[in-house]
Amino acid sequence: IVKNILNSLGFGPSLGMAAVPNAIIQKYEGSFFSFIRGVLGGDLQTLAGGPLFLLLAKYYRDYGPIFNLSFGPKSFLVISDPVMARHILNGGVDDYCKGMLGEILEPIMGDGLIPADPKIWKVRRRAVVPGFHKKWLNSMINLFADCGDRLVTDLSSRPPTVAVDMEERFCSVTLDIIGKAVFNYDFGSVTKESPIVKAVYRVLREAEHRSSSFIPYWNLPYADKWMGGQVEFRKDMGMLDEILTKLINQAVETRSEASVEELESREVGDDPSLLRFLVDMRGEDLTSKVLRDDLMTMLIAGHETTAAMLTWALYGLATNDPGLMKEIQAEVRTVMAGKSRPDYDDIVKMKKMRYALIEALRLYPEPPVLIRRARTEDTLPAGGSGLSGGVKVLRGTDIFISTWNLHRAPEYWENPEKYDPTRWERSFKNPGVKGWSGYNPDKISDTMLYPNEITADYAFLPFGAGKRKCIGDQFALLEASVTLSMIINKFDFTLEGRPEDVGMKTGATIHTMNGLNMFVSPRSEENPIPETNEWWGQQHLSRGLNVNG
Ligand code: HEM
Repeated sequence: IVKNILNSLGFGPSLGMAAVPNAIIQKYEGSFFSFIRGVLGGDLQTLAGGPLFLLLAKYYRDYGPIFNLSFGPKSFLVISDPVMARHILNGGVDDYCKGMLGEILEPIMGDGLIPADPKIWKVRRRAVVPGFHKKWLNSMINLFADCGDRLVTDLSSRPPTVAVDMEERFCSVTLDIIGKAVFNYDFGSVTKESPIVKAVYRVLREAEHRSSSFIPYWNLPYADKWMGGQVEFRKDMGMLDEILTKLINQAVETRSEASVEELESREVGDDPSLLRFLVDMRGEDLTSKVLRDDLMTMLIAGHETTAAMLTWALYGLATNDPGLMKEIQAEVRTVMAGKSRPDYDDIVKMKKMRYALIEALRLYPEPPVLIRRARTEDTLPAGGSGLSGGVKVLRGTDIFISTWNLHRAPEYWENPEKYDPTRWERSFKNPGVKGWSGYNPDKISDTMLYPNEITADYAFLPFGAGKRKCIGDQFALLEASVTLSMIINKFDFTLEGRPEDVGMKTGATIHTMNGLNMFVSPRSEENPIPETNEWWGQQHLSRGLNVNG
């Protein structure tokens, strides 16, 4: 009876939205109790009976690359097709906006780049992009290595018999890095706990909870006065805003105005932060809130995402054939040849290590879905759906592009569930998929260290694509490369317990359920550097290819 009443009220599990006439209407198939718990708790994750992206993966297997999914009043068009994704992400910024993501993140990020509507975004993106110039990125390598040194010192002090939660350690080191890079503020979280660091984490958890929430509980009248979590959230945001305002004011007081060209060629000096760059940039509007919003956005966007890439790369290396880790360590140790920190040229030489990171981003994309809302009527190309005439999308349709599904689809990847960094050296194409040109390593140019959405023709979207592509992709990849190389140069890692015990849970990023607990032992001379390319080469030979693909 309850089920029928809920169905008739629009909360039923088998509803479809008629906005997309050609799309397959999908019904919810989770357990009835998880559905009720989800509705009452206002939580999509509970409603889905686990991480939402896993439910989307199941439906993708059953129903193909496009379907409509409804949870009561919420309805989404779910897309797992590179040709459709390319169309949406590469279209004009005015055609699709962030929709519900913008609504959820607004109280935290304001009009920052991620949630910003197209009008504000156009102005802000133009202002922020120059801050990520090449000279700055190169100078960041020193910062990454300084923070990596702290991590190495901390890990050296741990007894090898007590497991260390490496996910937590990676979150700390990336928080320290982003704090310095964005505001020249040292959270010092690798070495100490502080109320500010705790506030950052609570705000992140709240943002994640909101993004998987069924009911916008934070909009309830006076929620921040009486709802426990919301009262705390208001206090945490107050604390972070106070620090940000202080840092912005300090930077404004010491402003030394210059053109973008002058700023790009300026020596970085004591304060390499983006805040310094933006405040000094001629023409930047310092009175408005957008500067605060963009900095807060980068603090949140650039921290746990990079930590997750490191976590899943180390997990992938530690849970696979030991030959893989040994060979990547061999590469790193040979290139670093007794040094404790790599420079840019060293990273260029560590191709296997870089592919180990990219492979983690394929298997664990952060976030596992990209969210859009159609601002005008549109027709998507048919792609792999086989729907002749394409798919009509009505204005206002909410869209999930499932990067998780795209990155693990057998149509686009051989042996997709396997963590195999060697795959990035081989080309792959399924001629049966209309409009998809395949993965092609030859598209990786000399100046480009990592495969991206172009090399995989949109079957790989770790940083999104098009005009709203991640602004910090190269920053994050270099940061993770420096950090991973520094620790696998110095230590060996063994997982505590079984790989399946690590588990997965998600919000904006995919976290482990129980931490990445690892025994960390200093590199010993009994573990000599193998000189061969044996393991890596074998992977190619087993597929009848030579090592160069
Ligand atoms: C946007 C992923 C690191 C700042 C995005 C998007 C993705 C992404 C998928 C596109 C979202 C969409 O289309 O809806 C990642 C991953 C990272 C990472 C996987 C690390 C491994 C960073 C870092 C920063 C950053 C380090 C800043 C320093 C941003 C910003 C945007 C963005 C500002 C919005 C861009 C715009 O709309 O113009 N990121 N990101 N991200 N990211 Fe990242």
